[in-house]
This record gives sequence, structure tokens and C-alpha cells, in this order.
Amino acid sequence: MSTAAASKADDRGLVLYRPFMCRVESVRDLTPSEKLFRFVRVDGQPFGHKPGQFMQVSLLGIGEAPISVSSSPTRGDYLEMGVRNAGTLTNAMHELKPGDTVGLRGPFGTFFDTEGMKGRNLLLISGGCGLAPMRAMIQYVEDCRGDFADVTILYGAKSPDDVLYKDELALWQSSDKFDCRLTVDAVPGGACWDTNVGVITKLIPPLAIAPDKTTAIIVGPPIMYRFVIIELHKKGISDENIVVSLERYMKCGVGKCGHCTIEHLYCCIDGPVFTLDQVAGLRGAI
Ligand SMILES: Cc1cc2nc3c(=O)[nH]c(=O)nc-3n(C[C@H](O)[C@H](O)[C@H](O)COP(=O)(O)OP(=O)(O)OC[C@H]3O[C@@H](n4cnc5c(N)ncnc54)[C@H](O)[C@@H]3O)c2cc1C
Ligand code: FES
Repeated sequence: MSTAAASKADDRGLVLYRPFMCRVESVRDLTPSEKLFRFVRVDGQPFGHKPGQFMQVSLLGIGEAPISVSSSPTRGDYLEMGVRNAGTLTNAMHELKPGDTVGLRGPFGTFFDTEGMKGRNLLLISGGCGLAPMRAMIQYVEDCRGDFADVTILYGAKSPDDVLYKDELALWQSSDKFDCRLTVDAVPGGACWDTNVGVITKLIPPLAIAPDKTTAIIVGPPIMYRFVIIELHKKGISDENIVVSLERYMKCGVGKCGHCTIEHLYCCIDGPVFTLDQVAGLRGAI
């Protein structure tokens, strides 16, 4: 196969099929089962990503998996990913050391419309691993803070041990740029936790929300969406102002294999970021 065919580009000039090589710059433990990886491109080029997008990570002889970008492009020419060791590829990723190389394809998929959100209040709601893509958005907002009005961050995890990005959450909580509130479902005996306990939906009723001026973004485990959306509707936020990032089983990442369909939509190219009015009526979407 010629190089041109192997690296077929779409109409955005994005290389679809051929991974480009990246070097692991650092690896940091987030929890016992999650690590944060920082990658730089071996050819020194920027990644060109936007908050909300994902990459296909490939390891030679092992496989490929879609992983969200966890860092904002405003932070420089590197890309970070928070990865849970869930299976074949991610277990192998957890063995990576600084200096090792991996292949990446992308960035793929839709992204959070930061231009369209300019001047609006933001309500950034994430649960569990959902903080991985949300972190890219939070970093972007932090770096372009003047573009947005009030910004509230809500994050929920199962237990204190499952809380991701603990250092950064502490900084966001003490920062005057955000109103950042955390909760955990339960606190096992002996664990240290001095703030809210209960599901994330409990954090929404006390908030003062101007529905027409607010965009809410939700990223989290499937069960979270339905109940968070109910609370947002009670606050008067309409479906076009609710943004969701959906996760589906993916293979190609470029709209060819059909593994990720939600009725007529392909989660990999029409999503993963959707406004709720795009998907609310679709079977199995939420
Ligand atoms: C757009 C997108 C963004 C993602 N971002 C991240 C991220 O930031 N960090 C992270 O750790 N993971 C993320 N994931 C999930 C990750 O891609 C899967 O866990 C993937 O299966 C890991 O590959 P693996 O080879 O390690 O696991 P496998 O060995 O392929 O799978 C492990 C198990 O998970 C099941 N499975 C695989 N994919 C899915 C899925 N999408 N939904 C439900 N079950 C699945 C498999 O059937 C199997 O039982 C994302 C997925 C998508 C679609
Ligand atoms: S992952 Fe192949 S079509 Fe979406």
C-alpha cells in the first residue's frame, strides 16, 4: 500500500488511518487504577486538538482504543490522557515509561463549542472518569477565563479513593475563577473526606441558575445522565443548552465501521459531544 493510501486524509486534512509516533514525556498515578500520561509528537508538530475530542491510541502488536484528550490546547504542544486499566490496550499502557513511544491517530470527534459559549455561565458536571475530558474544558476555561461569565464545577466520585486529579480539584476549589463543589457517594470507615456525601444530583438544587444564560455540560457514567438532566430541567435549562459527551464501543473512530451508532448518528464523527436536543429522542442515547 502506498504511503498516500495508508495515511488517507479526510476533508479537514486529518490523517485518518496512519498513527503518528508520540513519546511518553511523563506518567503520573491518579488512583490505583488510573494513570495520567503526557505525550509529545516525535515530529514536534502540535496535536491540533480541542476540548472534548478523543484520540485513537495504538500499541504495536497489542491494539488500539479511543481515549479522551484530558489537557487543553492552551497549555502547549503536549497532550495528556487519563487512562483506567480496563483491558488489553489500557493494561499495556499502564506499563509505559517516560521515553517509550506509542502511535496516536486523531484528534477525532466533535468538541465543546467554546466559541458559542462565550459570555455564558457554565455549569460543568462530571462523574468518575468523566473528569478526564472535562479537565481539558476546565483548563481551557481557566486560561480564557474572560470569555465566560460564572463558572461552576460539580464533580462526583464513588469514594474519596476514586477522586481523580485531587491536586487540581483542590486548586479549582480555592480559585476565585470557579465555584467548585465535590461529592462522593459514600465514605468508607477511616477515609478522610470533609465535604459533601451523596450522589452528584444533590449538588444541583442549591445552585442559583439563570437558565437562559447557562450552558451545562455533562460527562460521566451512563446512569448519571438521566438523573442530572432531570435536575437541570427542574432548573429550567432547555435541551439545546445541555451538552453531553457520550461513550460508545468504537473501532475505527472515523465513521466507517458502524460500531458506535446511535440510530442514524455515528458517535465517533457526529459526537462524542452532542447537545441534548440532538439525541434526546434517540433510542439508547441517554
Ligand atoms: C470517545 C471515548 C473516549 C474514551 N475516553 C477514555 C478515557 O479518557 N480514559 C479511559 O480510561 N477510557 C476511555 N474510554 C474507554 C476506553 O476506550 C475503553 O475502556 C477501551 O475498551 C479500552 O481498551 P482496552 O483494550 O484496554 O479494553 P478491552 O480489552 O477492549 O475492553 C475491556 C472491556 O470493556 C468493554 N468495552 C470496551 N469499550 C467499551 C465502551 N466504549 N463501552 C462499554 N464497554 C466497553 C469490552 O467489551 C471489555 O469487556 C473512552 C471511550 C470512548 C468511546
Ligand atoms: S467507530 Fe467506526 S463508525 Fe464510529
